[in-house]
Amino acid sequence: MNGEPRLSTATLPVDGRNIGTLKATPNETDLLDSFSISFDESTPDTANLLKAAEQLKNSDIPVAFPTETVYGLGADATRSAAVNGIYKAKQRPSDNPLIVHFASLEQLRKLLGPDSDPMHSHLKGHATDGPLTIILSNPTNSLLAPEVTAGLGTFGARIPRNILALALIKQADVPVAAPSANASTKPSPTAAEHVAYDLDGRIETIIDGGPCDVGVESTVVDGLSNPPLVLRPGGVSMEQLRSCPGWEATQVGYKNAAEQGSQPKAPGMKYRHYSPKAPVILYEIGKAAPTLSELRDHVGPQKKLGVVTTKRWRVNPSSTEINEQTSTSPDKTKHSERANHEEGFAGMLQSLHGTPDPGAAMQIHQVQGTHSTWQLAEIPLGSNIASIARGIFAALRELDREQVDAIFVEGIDDLEGDTAAAVMNRLRKAAEIKVVG
Ligand code: TXA
Ligand code: MG
Repeated sequence: MNGEPRLSTATLPVDGRNIGTLKATPNETDLLDSFSISFDESTPDTANLLKAAEQLKNSDIPVAFPTETVYGLGADATRSAAVNGIYKAKQRPSDNPLIVHFASLEQLRKLLGPDSDPMHSHLKGHATDGPLTIILSNPTNSLLAPEVTAGLGTFGARIPRNILALALIKQADVPVAAPSANASTKPSPTAAEHVAYDLDGRIETIIDGGPCDVGVESTVVDGLSNPPLVLRPGGVSMEQLRSCPGWEATQVGYKNAAEQGSQPKAPGMKYRHYSPKAPVILYEIGKAAPTLSELRDHVGPQKKLGVVTTKRWRVNPSSTEINEQTSTSPDKTKHSERANHEEGFAGMLQSLHGTPDPGAAMQIHQVQGTHSTWQLAEIPLGSNIASIARGIFAALRELDREQVDAIFVEGIDDLEGDTAAAVMNRLRKAAEIKVVG
């Protein structure tokens, strides 16, 4: 690809419990301010982490690492050659600025210079409970490579809440520019194998710290504008942001459902983001679940469809239809015994019995039509918003690997909270077809 030589990509497992201990620096109360690490040098985990930190500091090839949101693809933000390595590996257009990751406020203050105090109160406020990126002015004579900011006078700063990310950045001792570690346009990676799938041969090192806790990217807040604006919804709620001094009037600054247009979009939209190969058909809240014939219309050469269910859709094993629960509580009783219809399932599934486990495994249903047989691959994410966020990108990737013809997704109500808004924001960008109520 691109005539570039293929690199050999190593996935290095690192268990955060085996690398040693992080301690807040004396006189500080919080790891966020500044911390020290005493590494346990005897473990392979530490050896792997130190190796990755060494590459991050010295190599021009980026290193993939876990954060609490999604995996990042990191490079020394002060070296142009290293930052360019990110754009090259991801095949990302270079007009999209990168978030800069810091291990602590101490490291961030070092970059900002003497007038860094306004930051302090925001970062020390309640907002730091969750994954947050704050847009700051890039100081004159900034140490940041110009490629990081894509020509803007600002940059996004973030202190990830993940021990491996913190230890890596601290050890490399440089600010780390990192976008999500997916190939451009693909869903963000929430596990090391997702990174390997997209970037194998294009990077050398992936730190495998297991699946990410949050599953959707950080909330991006522009506190320089008045009122402060949320540019991208994420796990930190509007309420949390508004409780920070100076941010009481924070507003939504991204396009919400209403602004994205209420007409179903035609397939083949130019703009793709978070997208698997198969077209995503997103059912907004309030829209009835697809009927069997609506499903069948999208069966293509693979003779296989994917469906991601969340709160209310349940695949009915006896009728092949997707039924809706009227309440959000798990439906334990409505086990429809309608006798085998013309297109009844051959294989039965038991998803009617309660809410499936988060990240529940894919279930394949055989659908026998009058003329042909096809399959429905179902991934039930459960009804808990945090589990849906954690599992949504993995579900899209998994269905892609199944080579389905199309992926039907049951949307959730973005008014339910900011994590729900973040999930819907990503799904609307991923979807080629939006079915609205
Ligand atoms: O959770 C996350 O934020 C993950 C992990 C790896 O930290 N990172 C991530 O990076 O999602 P990326 O590159 O996929 O998304 C960065 C977002 C983009 O929407 C970009 O436009 C915005 O942040 N951004 C970065 N710098 C900005 C700036 N100076 N002004 C406005 N938006 C900015
Ligand atoms: Mg991204």
